Amino acid sequence: MPATCVIGLQWGDEAKGKIVDLLTEQHDIVVRYQGGSNAGHTVVTGGQTFKLSLIPSGIFRPRVQCVIATGVVVNPASLLDEIDGLAARGIAVGKNLMISDRAHVIFPWHIEEDRLLDRCSDGELIGTTMRGIGPCYRDKVGRSFAVRFGDMFRSDFSDRVNNIVAFKNRMLAGMGDGAGRDLLDAGEIHAQYSGYARRLRDYVADTTAYLLDAVEAKRNILFEGAQGSLLDIDHGTFPFVTSSNSSGVGVASGSGVPARYVTKAIGIVKAYTTRVGGGPFPTEQDNEIGQHIRDVGNEYGTVTRRPRRCGWFDAVAARYTARLGGIDVLAVMLLDVLSQLPELQICVAYELDGRRIEHFPSHVDDLRRVKPIYETMPGWQQDVTGIRRRADLPNKANAYLNRLGGLVGRPVEIVSVGPDRQQTILS
Ligand code: GDP
Ligand code: IMO
Ligand code: MG
Repeated sequence: MPATCVIGLQWGDEAKGKIVDLLTEQHDIVVRYQGGSNAGHTVVTGGQTFKLSLIPSGIFRPRVQCVIATGVVVNPASLLDEIDGLAARGIAVGKNLMISDRAHVIFPWHIEEDRLLDRCSDGELIGTTMRGIGPCYRDKVGRSFAVRFGDMFRSDFSDRVNNIVAFKNRMLAGMGDGAGRDLLDAGEIHAQYSGYARRLRDYVADTTAYLLDAVEAKRNILFEGAQGSLLDIDHGTFPFVTSSNSSGVGVASGSGVPARYVTKAIGIVKAYTTRVGGGPFPTEQDNEIGQHIRDVGNEYGTVTRRPRRCGWFDAVAARYTARLGGIDVLAVMLLDVLSQLPELQICVAYELDGRRIEHFPSHVDDLRRVKPIYETMPGWQQDVTGIRRRADLPNKANAYLNRLGGLVGRPVEIVSVGPDRQQTILS
């Protein structure tokens, strides 16, 4: 089984970090291939909690090679903070981390643009993480003002920064409230980034070549998706999405490894649904049920600490993203969070303009108008956090999991009943 991918099937924060950490044991290489420090992946091990943004969640096993591949946008300052933070807690990051020389670099102007442009054309807030992700991907696609990791080691790096800053200062002055003054100092930025580059030099490599060699040598690779499929730039709830292919389709473009090498795709879902930021969310419970889930599940953003919007499991959305990602099996996470509720609802279809539909609408305006059609299932009112076998779960919990898997059309292979590595049921 050479290559497995772990893909979030909702709007992110499905607990991908926990599953990647768990599966790392069976893999040689763990790869992040899209997104950047908008991601916040939590790994709980040995009673300690770690939050990772750029470094793959495989970093806790020293024999495993971690790779930040070409499709990731990297803020070198955040990456160094993460490396230093791990080192301070006894996790060494050395040759076991590799960064693509083709990965694009996030600069201060990207963060500033994120702040100024976090709105749709009608003024509605997208609610980004303010990490400069969208603006960096925009410059990548636009080409003229982009800097890749490898560019920081070339002799024309200083000229490049000067030229970009001259343009960005004019652009930012026109866009924002700083008209007439230069926001960015090219010399300062060049000096700062040259310092980062010096510290990160030994990690930088041609990861595409490395990964192609690895698949051909049949080494076991684990691809760690960031965000969730509904935030995918092409297939998600546009424009309330992130700027990369965060569904299964992104693995090949972001890593350089052809999709046909991926032999197993694991779709991660919460037993309910959450979303951070703006955009439609048909099953949202902006009421005491949503608040209960938020309290019990500690549903506050890993990166921004924003309260996550909470709601019922949406099987229409998950079926769509499971198909999109070629998902083989499901991992259902945070089942324990639902334990105290007397009744649970699952959205099995939508009603749009008086008609029942079972597909996920392509336009947000339609998604905004759908009414979820729910099926009600009994809850189980029993603590499940200590359970380690499917057969030991309350019957009602198993019935819920079976229905959920049936509606999505994929078997449930992993169930999570708590944040710790141990709190996992594997079938
Ligand atoms: P990711 O971005 O997909 O890696 O997910 P996050 O780390 O942003 O959010 C998942 C949160 O749920 C983290 O705080 C995890 O420690 C926590 N978590 C993971 N699995 C479980 C579980 O089964 N039950 C509970 N209660 N918490 C969990
Ligand atoms: P992980 O990997 C949840 C959301 C933001 C915003 C939208 C665009 O931890 O699951 P961006 O900064 O990417 O331009 O923001 O996407 N978002 C996430 N939501 N989990 C994430 O990552 C997210 N990364 C981005 O809240 O709505
Ligand atoms: Mg997260």
